[in-house]
Amino acid sequence: MSLGGIILDKGWFITIEGIDGCGKTTQTERLCDRLLHQGVAHIRTREPGGTPIGDAIRALLLDPASEMTPAAEVYLYAASRAEHVRTVIRPALAQGLVVVCDRYVDASVAYQGYGMAPQGMSPEFVREVNGPAIDGLLPDLTVIIDIPVALAEARLATRGGAARGDRIERRGAAFFERVRHGLQDVRAAFPRRVTSVDGVGTAEDVAERVWKAVAHLIQRAGNPPCR
Ligand code: TYD
Repeated sequence: MSLGGIILDKGWFITIEGIDGCGKTTQTERLCDRLLHQGVAHIRTREPGGTPIGDAIRALLLDPASEMTPAAEVYLYAASRAEHVRTVIRPALAQGLVVVCDRYVDASVAYQGYGMAPQGMSPEFVREVNGPAIDGLLPDLTVIIDIPVALAEARLATRGGAARGDRIERRGAAFFERVRHGLQDVRAAFPRRVTSVDGVGTAEDVAERVWKAVAHLIQRAGNPPCR
């Protein structure tokens, strides 16, 4: 299997991150279209979700009517992830597939660890809870699609308005500023695994940046270090 001229001899785990409204879902789709076009066998999945249990947890987490403590929120995202890693991601990687996942553990660190710091959460606590959930499986590549919070909010408003968004989307600008900052901290902490691309521009422009980041990181990393 080859990706941008690079021969892939085992599965690669690629995650896409960014604040709500950054265009992550569109970019995940475009990346998968490009992989398909190149003949790269892959699966596209997402968190929370990606499994029947994960989808049930997703519904609970995103329902504005769900009331839960911050700690319960951390554990629910981790529970969805534990199921996803064991029943979908690892088996796909073992078959040599590229796994493209719309959000993963970095989302928990940024959203729950940084975003919910005023509610007593911390990146350390979130990492600790997620250790057993991910069972040592870190992505080979993580691409953050970075955009200013005001632009993300303007985009979300055209999709129905932040006030009518899901439980997480309703958290407001200060929350998303913390999340954005958290993602950049993750990038700084793991510069070989994580890259950030500018999400401002047309979908085509951003897709090109994501593709370059993926091809570049694969080239630089050589064989995946995590498995
Ligand atoms: P997402 O699927 O990106 O939302 P959408 O369907 O609107 O594109 O993610 C759902 C929400 O869950 C999003 O607001 C981010 C949040 N989230 C966390 O807070 N922690 C996590 O660990 C994950 C994976 C997602």
